[in-house]
Amino acid sequence: MSNKTFYITTAISYVNGAPHLGHAYEAIMTDVMARFKRLDGYDVKFLTGTDEHGQKVMKTAEENNMDPQPFADMNADKFRAMTGLLDISNDDFIRTSEARHHDAAQDMWQKLQENGDIYLDRYTGWYSQREEGYFTEDELHEDPESGIKFTENGTEVVWHEEESYFFKLSEYTDKLLAHYAAHPEFIRPATRRNEVVSFVKQGLKDLSISRHKDKLKWGIPVPGDDNHVMYVWLDALTNYITGAGYPDQDSAEFQKFWPADYHVIGKDITRFHAVYWPAFLMAAGLDLPKTVFAHGFINVQGEKMSKSLGNVLSPEGLVDTYGLDPLRYLLMREIPHGQDGTFAHAYAVQRINADLANGIGNLAQRTLSMIHKNCDAQIPALGDFNDEDKRLLDLAYGEMLPTARGKMDDFAIHRAMEDIWRVVSEANGYVDAQAPWALKKTDPARMNTVLYVLAEIIRCVAIMIQPVTPKSANIMLYQLKIPADERLFAHIASDYALKSGTAIDKPEGVFPRLADHVEPVDNADNADAAE
Ligand code: MSP
Repeated sequence: MSNKTFYITTAISYVNGAPHLGHAYEAIMTDVMARFKRLDGYDVKFLTGTDEHGQKVMKTAEENNMDPQPFADMNADKFRAMTGLLDISNDDFIRTSEARHHDAAQDMWQKLQENGDIYLDRYTGWYSQREEGYFTEDELHEDPESGIKFTENGTEVVWHEEESYFFKLSEYTDKLLAHYAAHPEFIRPATRRNEVVSFVKQGLKDLSISRHKDKLKWGIPVPGDDNHVMYVWLDALTNYITGAGYPDQDSAEFQKFWPADYHVIGKDITRFHAVYWPAFLMAAGLDLPKTVFAHGFINVQGEKMSKSLGNVLSPEGLVDTYGLDPLRYLLMREIPHGQDGTFAHAYAVQRINADLANGIGNLAQRTLSMIHKNCDAQIPALGDFNDEDKRLLDLAYGEMLPTARGKMDDFAIHRAMEDIWRVVSEANGYVDAQAPWALKKTDPARMNTVLYVLAEIIRCVAIMIQPVTPKSANIMLYQLKIPADERLFAHIASDYALKSGTAIDKPEGVFPRLADHVEPVDNADNADAAE
């Protein structure tokens, strides 16, 4: 096993409903990153899961006339099923209602307590059930007609007054600012970092970290006080260390993977991850994650997805419409990471047809068909490479991976895709310029070399696209008879080049063209989607 380790997590999703496009987007993005690192020789741990306690889940369970645990079980199954549907390569799936997590969260509480950071008082203030968050008056705006107050994310707040345990967050203002200054990569992208820094600079207030049992029973009990359950965010954030074996800090797993390299989250929950979480970790004497990466929000045809608009897209419907790998590619290529993006059917069809069907699909299909037909169904023999051959091979061997790797290090997956697809379009240009079909009559030896070069480029590109379109890349590599243990990025080199004489089967197209008039399938039970 490699000594380079990489620990990456998604946010854990509330189980108040079924997964939707936003959850799928985050899971796929994190999966692409995890797969990329594995192929690049890292020992990777990828954690995802569900956030099951708190008022929001409790209330939705009640509305469905169910107890919270069976309700959580039912919806957690849907999130787990989504990881299968979307080919997410997570190594673990954590549920906050599991015993291992109770132990971790309670241990975390005790660490904060031992550090003298917890005290009992009364909380009076505004609370958003949708965000499970506390807000101050100046963070809210009021609807003049109803008098109802809303957060900047548009969720309603209600007044809370109850006995509560507090965490001395105010004592972490300077420590957090110092950490942000010393580690500019801690919050990415920079826009989110700037927002967090200016929020913290205003000075932090102590944070209510428990709910009284009379108000909320569905949570992890506070150690030593049966009248309280833990605040759902303290509970939920701790999942990232539970997944690494906490509270057993001496375990091989914890030693190897903590601190995490990336917490991948949506921009709406940046404060919880970039302010509360590092403060809790500092208080517990634990290392901080290296980077919190906050991606943007996906809208549908320019509108926020919402049950009331009935525009919530389900992962199942999207996979049915576009196919899994095209969907994965589309989401990764179309939305600049870190920014908001719009999901629109017309663009989706265009992008899939241009880049997959006409781009790489066509390149592979015409090359392999020509080889099958004209070269005895074998990888052809090769002659001397001319300058054009060398240029294309150098691009694939020498440039494609380092440039894509640089973009991935910046969490710019869409840019890495661009780099890979530049090679595809160069290769398609090369086919047209070399015209192997014409060489068949005039210079069959040169035709063989051209087809060999193309097949070799396809091998390299197929290895590179495994993170984003894993199943299709596998089929392409299978078509070229590449052994399973020669599919790492390290194999994108002439030492592992295709062997002339290897028999290939009659190729089947890997990326079919979508009909322009394809209708979006939506089998979303919109009423059931999580918010
Ligand atoms: N349970 C909390 C996270 C706790 S992490 C310790 C939560 N859950 S959620 O189900 O509401 O959201 C899960 C993730 O999906 C979050 O990162 C959130 O930002 C993301 N998304 C939810 N809707 C989204 C879009 N429309 N677009 C992109 N991502 C979105 O928050």
